[in-house]
Amino acid sequence: MEEMLQGWKRTAMCGDITEADIGEEVTLMGWVDARHDLGSLIFIDLRDRTGLMQIVFDKSAYSGSFEAVESLRSEYVIAVKGKVVRRSEDTINPKIPTGTIEVRADALKILSRSETPPFEIEDDTRVREELRLKYRYLDLRRPQMQKNLELRHKITVETRRFLEENGFLEIETPMLQKSTPEGARDYLVPSRTHAGTFFALPQSPQLFKQLLMVSGYDRYFQIVKCFRDEDLRADRQPEFTQIDMEMSFVEADDVMDLNERLLKHLFKEVIGVDLRTPFPRLTYREAMDRYGSDKPDTRFGLELVNISDIIRDSEFKVFSNVVKKGGSVRCINAKGAADVLARREIDSLVDFVKIYGAKGMAWISFKEDGMISPITKFLSEKELQEIIDKTGAETGDILFFVGDTNKVVFDALGALRLKLAERLDLIPENTWDLLWVTDFPLFEYSEEEKRYVAKHHPFTSPMDEDVEIIATDKENARAKAYDVICNGTELGGGSIRIHSTELQEKMFEALGFSKEDAWDRFGFLLEAFRYGTPPHGGLAYGLDRMAMLMAGAGSIRDVIAFPKVQNASDLMTQAPAAVDTKQLRELHIRTTAEEKV
Ligand code: AMO
Ligand code: AMP
Repeated sequence: MEEMLQGWKRTAMCGDITEADIGEEVTLMGWVDARHDLGSLIFIDLRDRTGLMQIVFDKSAYSGSFEAVESLRSEYVIAVKGKVVRRSEDTINPKIPTGTIEVRADALKILSRSETPPFEIEDDTRVREELRLKYRYLDLRRPQMQKNLELRHKITVETRRFLEENGFLEIETPMLQKSTPEGARDYLVPSRTHAGTFFALPQSPQLFKQLLMVSGYDRYFQIVKCFRDEDLRADRQPEFTQIDMEMSFVEADDVMDLNERLLKHLFKEVIGVDLRTPFPRLTYREAMDRYGSDKPDTRFGLELVNISDIIRDSEFKVFSNVVKKGGSVRCINAKGAADVLARREIDSLVDFVKIYGAKGMAWISFKEDGMISPITKFLSEKELQEIIDKTGAETGDILFFVGDTNKVVFDALGALRLKLAERLDLIPENTWDLLWVTDFPLFEYSEEEKRYVAKHHPFTSPMDEDVEIIATDKENARAKAYDVICNGTELGGGSIRIHSTELQEKMFEALGFSKEDAWDRFGFLLEAFRYGTPPHGGLAYGLDRMAMLMAGAGSIRDVIAFPKVQNASDLMTQAPAAVDTKQLRELHIRTTAEEKV
């Protein structure tokens, strides 16, 4: 039988006890992490959220039932009373903070027994993630997971502290709302009271925070769940958390300045890292040209080099033709790679860039005894020399070339750059490269929708000098938008917003909404802007991503207590799941999945 507490009170946490407590009587409560049964001596490692404490039951001195002690197994929940003592020299464990002390037990309560868990609760676990997620409540007992969630907690505490000190109010916005166009698919919630209509779960609180500015709240923030039905990756979940903020009477520099101070505060308080401010800034154009990415990892070089001008009139048609068609040929100099990458590996890199749409990838390997390459025979001596001069290629290097539309070249070489850095071990540890990417394009062409869509979202203001061209030159119109990047991950993004009805209407028109459509979907915003709207702007961070980076975790799943897997399901609760037909009927819904049965 499980025992009750019956007045026992915990007096200390395992990890908090130190040598200063030697001689003290303590009552500890927690889980049996490990046991060593030496017959007349039984050692238990007791675990709680703060750490481990070794408990010793000595048969010759113990007055309670030793049978109960002998029955203890992993993950039993127990309460122990005893005295803190110094360990004998030969039992000191330098690997744990409490390794020089132990508790000599004189009473035990077994509060709960445990079946043998499906995997051991330890950090260097090789258990499949599916199993960990099915038994997430056990996985969360692992010290690493507990550290991760504690770190995440610290981020939110320090965020609130900093923003409170800077005049922000935390205000909640609705979860049941009208769809906001952040670009992903919505999660919909059927309405019972309005047959055939739906709420959307927020992709972000974007419109509500702007309305709060119209209402005069001046500085808003919220730590808030957002929902996006999109394809998942290591840094994406269908429900994730934003640190969301909005400020009135500001320009882009003001938002960036405040956020540099916020990030400096967070890195210092949460992981003890001193960030240098101001962060470097790159325009979107520069980021793409140099790194092939709008979230460049600047911890290493391997920058892209544009050789379009050199091979514009080359006999090598593969190259000259793409330039003539408006594309480009660019390359990366993988310094010192010639002796590291075998031919087979080069071939697999060629296959790798094809994932990103490249039709091929040419290369030149500069070996001690000359160049090896599938393309040098097509290049003139002058072209080759100019390429060598521009890339600084030397013996030991490999140049990798992709020619295509700019989009394909950037995607392919941007990805190759990251892959090479990992393979060549170029990424320094314990480096925190934060930077801003600014001057984003206002629009981007969506192949799927065959029209221009807002690159950020439709409420982002064009640059003052580009307001006139939003209808006529969508390729070149730029936005007052900024992203903050950390070690190649987009931590957050935001913009200065449009704050006039007229410009907002023009923007919707440029995006292909008819006036009726725009008013139908966003009439409340367009109308609100007519009643006195301060210039405003803001930013939102992905809290999960921030925690992942600070914790050094490989996936945001490792900093979320109960995450979803790739196909957006929860392996523990088995959500999503079918519901009663009665529930569906009340919601005026019949599913086609149901019809098939
Ligand atoms: P954005 O869409 O860029 O901007 O989102 C802000 C930040 O949220 C994080 N993020 C995600 N994290 C995990 N899983 C996801 N599926 C996911 N999607 C986004 C990223 C991203 O930088 N309303 C605007 C902000 C603004 O303009 O103020 C917005 O939502 O870290
Ligand atoms: P080919 O003439 O098609 O045999 O190509 C000669 C070399 O150029 C091969 O190494 C190809 O991988 C490479 N190549 C082909 N298309 C491209 C491209 N679009 N960009 C860069 N290299 C290419």
